[in-house]
Amino acid sequence: MTQLPEGFLWGGAVAANQLEGGWQEGGKGVSIADVMAAGGNGVPREITAGVLPGKNYPNHSAIDFYHRYDDDIALFAELGMKAFRTSIAWSRIFPLGDEDEPNEAGLAFYDRLFDDLIAHGIEPVITLSHFEMPYHLVEAYGGWRDRRVIDFFVRYATIVFQRYAGKVHHWMTFNEINNQNGLGEGGFWTDSGVRLAPGENPEQVLYQVGHNELVASAKAVQIGHAIDPTNQIGCMVSYGLAYAATSAPKDAFKALRAMQANFWFSDVQSLGRYPAWLRRYQKQQGLELDIRPEDLVTLENGTVDYVGFSYYASGVRKAAPDEPDTFMARGDDTNVENPYLDKTDWGWSIDPLGLRYALNWLTDRYHKPLFIVENGMGALDTVTAAGEIHDPYRIAYLRAHIEELIKAVTLDGVDLIGYTPWGIIDLVSAGSGQMDKRYGLIYVDKNDAGDGTLKRLKKDSFYWYQHVIATNGAEL
Ligand code: BG6
Repeated sequence: MTQLPEGFLWGGAVAANQLEGGWQEGGKGVSIADVMAAGGNGVPREITAGVLPGKNYPNHSAIDFYHRYDDDIALFAELGMKAFRTSIAWSRIFPLGDEDEPNEAGLAFYDRLFDDLIAHGIEPVITLSHFEMPYHLVEAYGGWRDRRVIDFFVRYATIVFQRYAGKVHHWMTFNEINNQNGLGEGGFWTDSGVRLAPGENPEQVLYQVGHNELVASAKAVQIGHAIDPTNQIGCMVSYGLAYAATSAPKDAFKALRAMQANFWFSDVQSLGRYPAWLRRYQKQQGLELDIRPEDLVTLENGTVDYVGFSYYASGVRKAAPDEPDTFMARGDDTNVENPYLDKTDWGWSIDPLGLRYALNWLTDRYHKPLFIVENGMGALDTVTAAGEIHDPYRIAYLRAHIEELIKAVTLDGVDLIGYTPWGIIDLVSAGSGQMDKRYGLIYVDKNDAGDGTLKRLKKDSFYWYQHVIATNGAEL
């Protein structure tokens, strides 16, 4: 086979909180994304205690997809997209998170959205939780620390599986579930809604939160299958590739540890059990975790159908001279420079071969179909006087990555469902809260300060990707 299979899901990806806006429309509650103020390139976002006056919260209005989805979907159809990955904002369905009954206006919004996509021949690919849990669950329960949140999530998942049965076939439970592992840079917050108290043992909290989310994920998988046996339900993991800095065995071992630590969530979701090293480590550290025997059965019976992942960049690890023998369980995000790779303006390495590496590595580890649900580069774009956006850097990035995914399928036999590059339309950056960190093939006229007409413009990359899809990747 020299080509991608027919039916390959070419598409684009976004998340509800990063593009919808309408943060109080249709009865929506406040989500954890709504209390994140704008940051900047290298400036972390401030997480405030509720929505405070005088702060700039870019997710509140985002790109107003809530009101403009119909026009945007027409553009996606013109692009030729077969799939659109977005998420359901949990706080539209359960504004507080712990109600008994869902919010009908929120459910109806996603009916309209999914119907519109389907009418345009675009399959919705849906993440249940993408950095947007109801903020009330943070205040009243401490986020995912509390086991009761498992039940709230299961209730939410059940409602949406029932409501959208027959409309949605590809689901994912938690977006980038593993990016909370480092506990830094807002990652822990966006996944778990947890703020660490001063003096608290971060590992104790991380492993309890992670366990609760994994049980919730496994229960959702089982319920989703029971409601519609044709549902394909995946996990979603950030593919943090760690190369060894040198051929010194210590560096190779350090890189191995970083990979093990990065993938324990998806190990549980895909294989149905905790990796041996982690259970040993948790015991050695004397952590007191509420992991019940029935939970382990749930995890075993709730394994995912496919592995969805994001891939942006690779990293490099170097062992310290006094590297400890104990497991570096939370991963070590300390990167050393890779002299072989260029970087984006935001300092992310550009490593297309790393994508082929990821596809091979995940196939060997999990033996499941894969789905690249995020990939792309954040860049500053300039609009010419004629209203054109020439973005050869973005085309070069995407082309090089698509070349590698095609090799993975045609030469390495990887079972790949589709490819949905991130931020197909410009949206709010999760990490920095910026608009000017642009991933889109469709430009949105809005800047970091929140000014702009919100007008949509097709970039050069739009026309390029349109041709890629039309030729099923034969012409890049
Ligand atoms: C992933 C997230 O981490 O990367 C997205 O799933 C995010 O929500 C994307 O937007 C790119 O990161 P950033 O910080 O550039 O928006």
